[in-house]
Amino acid sequence: MRRQIVAGNWKMNKTHDEAIELIENILNATYDDSVQLIAIPPSVYASEIVGKVVGSKMGVGVQNSSQHAAGAYTGELSSAMVKSIGVEYVLVGHSERREYFNEQNSVLAKKIDQLLANDLTPIYCCGEVLEEREAENHFNIIKNQIEEGLFHLTEDQLQNCIVAYEPVWAIGTGVTASSDQAQEMHHFIRSLLIEKYGLDVANTISILYGGSCKPSNAKELFANPDVDGGLIGGASLNASDFVAIANSFS
Ligand code: PGA
Repeated sequence: MRRQIVAGNWKMNKTHDEAIELIENILNATYDDSVQLIAIPPSVYASEIVGKVVGSKMGVGVQNSSQHAAGAYTGELSSAMVKSIGVEYVLVGHSERREYFNEQNSVLAKKIDQLLANDLTPIYCCGEVLEEREAENHFNIIKNQIEEGLFHLTEDQLQNCIVAYEPVWAIGTGVTASSDQAQEMHHFIRSLLIEKYGLDVANTISILYGGSCKPSNAKELFANPDVDGGLIGGASLNASDFVAIANSFS
């Protein structure tokens, strides 16, 4: 009913030759092809990597794109440009973009509009920081991110989106959300989608977990009914770890 997805966010890592070696090693490995794999390299390599994945089940994404359609925005990438090189997915609102580039929900909603207008699939990231969880404010934070980022969309538009829950305190820290914590928040996100869009629509949306997901914990995380896969950072930089995670659906 929902796609199982494992996406690798390479962030700002790998030189050209390293990036090509990584994608080739992933493509040469044996992975469960009922799982949608997505490589999200630095955008400078995206075009070449799109060429490499032809004929495989791997999709390609980039890590960011502009809320503007075109014009004098030095350094930015438009959705149309990304689409024109064969990329299919774009991360929106990763916590590092929210924190270091001050991206607010209102801007992220506009980025999503640009992506959908260009027939691209947004992977919309949400997540709370440690202080918010400790203050027991995490459900409110996520509700706000989901509502402000997504709730202006029509049913059809929402069905072209993927959601990623990434507790910020688990990203790159080695501390993973427990399987119960992940399921609890994924279930909460799905209940928000059910309330707004109804059960049938909400049940088609893949919700990925991100934050120190690795081969040793992926199986337990992915076994949860509302966890439809992972958005993998550090472990996606190693082909055998990434493929082991992709093979962790039971
Ligand atoms: P991590 O990063 O797997 O290194 O914690 C996840 C992400 O930021 O997407």
